[in-house]
Amino acid sequence: MAKKASKRVYVFDTTLRDGEQSPGASMNLTEKLEVARALESLGVDIIEAGFPITSPDDFDAVRAISREVRRPVVAGLARCVAKDIDRAAEALRDARKSRIHVFLGTSPIHRKHQLRKSKRQVLQMSIESVERAKAATHDVQFSPMDATRTEPDFLIQVVEAVIDAGATTVNIPDTVGWAMPDEFGRLIGRLFENVPNISKAVIAVHCHDDLGLAVANTLAAIKAGARQAECTINGIGERAGNAAMEEIVMAMKTRPDDFQDCWTNIRTGHLYAASRLVSRVTGLAVARNKAVVGENAFAHESGIHADGYLKERTTFEIMDPKAVGVARSKLVLGKHSGRHQFRRRLKELGFRLSPEQIDRLFFGPFKELADRKKEIFDEDIEAIVESEIVAVPETWRLCGIQVATGTGGMPTATVELHEEGKAEPVRDAATGDGPVDAIFRVMERITGVGLRLKDYQIRAVTSGKEAQGEVRLEAIYGKQTVSGRGVSTDVLEASAKAYLSAINRALNRAGRTKRAGRPKAAAKRKKAKSGKAKRSSR
Ligand code: KIV
Ligand code: ZN
Repeated sequence: MAKKASKRVYVFDTTLRDGEQSPGASMNLTEKLEVARALESLGVDIIEAGFPITSPDDFDAVRAISREVRRPVVAGLARCVAKDIDRAAEALRDARKSRIHVFLGTSPIHRKHQLRKSKRQVLQMSIESVERAKAATHDVQFSPMDATRTEPDFLIQVVEAVIDAGATTVNIPDTVGWAMPDEFGRLIGRLFENVPNISKAVIAVHCHDDLGLAVANTLAAIKAGARQAECTINGIGERAGNAAMEEIVMAMKTRPDDFQDCWTNIRTGHLYAASRLVSRVTGLAVARNKAVVGENAFAHESGIHADGYLKERTTFEIMDPKAVGVARSKLVLGKHSGRHQFRRRLKELGFRLSPEQIDRLFFGPFKELADRKKEIFDEDIEAIVESEIVAVPETWRLCGIQVATGTGGMPTATVELHEEGKAEPVRDAATGDGPVDAIFRVMERITGVGLRLKDYQIRAVTSGKEAQGEVRLEAIYGKQTVSGRGVSTDVLEASAKAYLSAINRALNRAGRTKRAGRPKAAAKRKKAKSGKAKRSSR
């Protein structure tokens, strides 16, 4: 049996080639360069930058990336066709380290239906193409496409022949996601046992995810001796995608015991940022529950899990979020959260409440809200506490509102507000894109508080003709999110109340942070509450 390679596993990223083949994922040159730079910082060994023959854009991208990145090898894809190989060589000319990656279908299905070639012809084309590529660059990779559906003996013959022809890497692709992990591991093992010159090349694998096994197959191949993993960020790629880099790398890093200490050069702390970048430029969202980089990958909601996590992180976390570049784990509050979690979050938000108050809030408004809303954010908690226990001081109070609107006209709102401590109310008017916009604009003008609306929702809270409308909104104030709620039988008045409550909340927060930090804020709020009581009894 041939000697297996060292423990170093090379990472070959094909986000810019196979990844870009994901339906709907095309990237422009600027975006490709941005991704290439991110891959370089990540420590990727080989960047497959494109398939130069396919379009002038692909050619330009491979050439630009070749000129831009310095440390990784830049690879360009080519069919076993002379003009493809020559075009790839031209695109890679300025690369510090270049690789031509030639591929050819070897399975009976591909030979018969796609190529209409015999085994002998396929073997001959493979050898000639590797030799042609070798004349342009010493680093040549060959892929027998659909290797997992190729007769193993023929595959062994092809691998041996292309290594003899000069291939420095031979990639075994599971092109259609057909393989099972144990079977794929055995296939790689069989190559190591039967290809006499195998130690002269690096054996790579390239797995597709049609049955959700791309990462499992890649890992099985590594255990069997493969030393180059082909993958993409977020697992994007043809059809169901490729093996996800972040999952392969973190599996090896988290379980060195199971991988005989095999390692990659990936700076895992950059994985999350790379994932966000690729998602942004391709427009392909990352599923919340995606392993390693999904929104929920380090989020705990259930009471038991959160409780365990709070006692000792490793009870429910096998990776430290910082290891992949996520600042910290997230304790999500929702309907599965326990009282302990709720109490802890209140404390973090600066509220010092008695056990009775916490129980009242937890079993009352918190549970009610959790039934209606999947995730409860800090702003929701603040709104609950502020409406139930410590009212937000009403720096500004709504005295009156009048709105003129109609088809063709310019919606105009006149609003009268009273500022706490001032003798006279202030009245002003503004126009807007619609009546609600006009109301918000005039309120901003009077109070001098500018908010950026993030979310606005309106719903009926009672039924029938006299139904009350409830407006809930979220807005950005500086770097914070503030929420507002208003109820009225008139939805425009409800909108005005909601916006004004967000303004008051923003002013209160600004005051709170300017004062002495969160713990003292609760005391201030209590004081504010008694101030409010006094005002309303006037
Ligand atoms: O899936 C595949 O077989 C490929 C080859 C070009 C390696 O993408
Ligand atoms: Zn592929």
